[in-house]
Amino acid sequence: MNMRLKGVILAGGTASRLFPLTKVTNKHLLPVGPKPMIYYAIEKLVGAGIEDVLVVTGVHHVGSVVNLLGSGKDFNCRFTYKVQDEAGGIAQALGLAENFASGSPVAVILGDNIFQDSLKQHAEAYTEQGGGARILIKEVSDPERFGVAELDGDKLLSIEEKPENPKSNFAVTGIYFFDGDVYDIIRTLKPSGRGEMEITDVNNDYIRRSRMSCSPLNGWWSDAGTFASFDYVQKLVKEAPPE
Ligand code: DAU
Repeated sequence: MNMRLKGVILAGGTASRLFPLTKVTNKHLLPVGPKPMIYYAIEKLVGAGIEDVLVVTGVHHVGSVVNLLGSGKDFNCRFTYKVQDEAGGIAQALGLAENFASGSPVAVILGDNIFQDSLKQHAEAYTEQGGGARILIKEVSDPERFGVAELDGDKLLSIEEKPENPKSNFAVTGIYFFDGDVYDIIRTLKPSGRGEMEITDVNNDYIRRSRMSCSPLNGWWSDAGTFASFDYVQKLVKEAPPE
């Protein structure tokens, strides 16, 4: 079995927070600086030496996504596409990667996350740890918008999704590494209060089993899912383009 790290980009969801920009197109096709948003995630995965990339997207815009990206030859990778029928959450979208991964570990990027670090060093650290999961965290001024890491020094104790009273300023970024256990974990999940299968529940399962590691991003990071953060990444990309 080929156990090389594969890539997954989650580019589904409704992107209602960016209406009407996303009424007739997919958020991940919107421009960020000179490129469509999804190019940034692709370039990070390919830059980490990943050759096989799954793109998960919603049923409405899959045609545009395939038209834009094609087979992958323009990006030096091979794309596989999967359709998420309804926006049932990040963990549900990731569950669609099981056949594609076929036992290999995956590097997962949420398609609206843009960041400066090269993914290579983080992918190497994950490969060296030999299985389990790894998340990347970043200190932010508005942690209540994200999954928030509860830390004891360097040790990750738990993650809370969008807490009213965050236990730290460290956001869990939408960059994750998982081994093949992740699909069994996803099958055990129940929808959260917001009616979604939460990636935070998956991550807490790995933490409970002491199979999770965590490291900070060095460079800038932002999501681009709200008007404010969408504007902010435009500025970041212009000032200091990602590695
Ligand atoms: O940006 C990092 C944050 O992303 C994390 O800190 C949170 O723990 C995590 O839950 C997530 O929070 P959001 O609520 O901001 O995620 P959002 O619903 O905006 O979805 C982020 C991306 O995931 C989106 O660009 C596309 C993909 N997605 C999302 C959903 C809900 C899918 O592919 N399918 C889905 O059903």
